Amino acid sequence: MVSIIVAVAKNNAIGYGNKLIYWLPDDLKRFKSLTTGHTIVMGRKTFESLPKGALPNRRNIVLSHNPHFQASGTETFHSLADALAHCEPKEEIFIIGGESVYKEAIGLASKLYVTTIEDTPAQADAFFPEIDTDKWELAQSIPHEADAKHKYRFHFNDYIKKGGE
Ligand SMILES: NC(=O)c1ccc[n+]([C@@H]2O[C@H](COP(=O)([O-])OP(=O)(O)OC[C@H]3O[C@@H](n4cnc5c(N)ncnc54)[C@H](OP(=O)(O)O)[C@@H]3O)[C@@H](O)[C@H]2O)c1
Repeated sequence: MVSIIVAVAKNNAIGYGNKLIYWLPDDLKRFKSLTTGHTIVMGRKTFESLPKGALPNRRNIVLSHNPHFQASGTETFHSLADALAHCEPKEEIFIIGGESVYKEAIGLASKLYVTTIEDTPAQADAFFPEIDTDKWELAQSIPHEADAKHKYRFHFNDYIKKGGE
């Protein structure tokens, strides 16, 4: 079972200069709580953007076409299909970005955990694909107000693929 987890701005922006655009501690906490103990799959550039390398207490899979790419605490695969073939069929596998991996994986995913931020950033160079509401049903939407630690209001929006099990 493939799930996608992402934080998007109103214009679908997800990154700029190979960095996240927003710092939302409660979103990071939710990311940690959903993904800990599971397999996470990411592109090589997203991996290189992680400040401390592999994320602890998770199986870290990095995608790269480079046959020599290796990084401590990770497994490398050279295609998404190969990575998924090396996961347990029934486990929830979290695709954690970036743009190129989201674009490839959205067609395979059955669940989207989308943190939707009520802001449009001045600059962005990485985007999430448009969520097609003919294909995706909004199953849950939990608002989070702006506060001292969160500059913007946002929602935790969970989408389920229509016609899925
Ligand atoms: N807002 C969010 O939730 C969120 C989450 C994650 C990332 N981001 C942002 O997304 C941006 C990065 O996205 P990106 O598209 O530039 O980079 P990316 O998807 O993180 O990484 C791209 C690289 O991954 C490898 N790759 C991707 N698909 C592959 C495949 N099918 N098979 C083999 N290798 C594959 C390639 O590595 P090689 O070049 O080594 O072959 C490719 O150059 C950053 O700004 C980051 O901050 C945002």
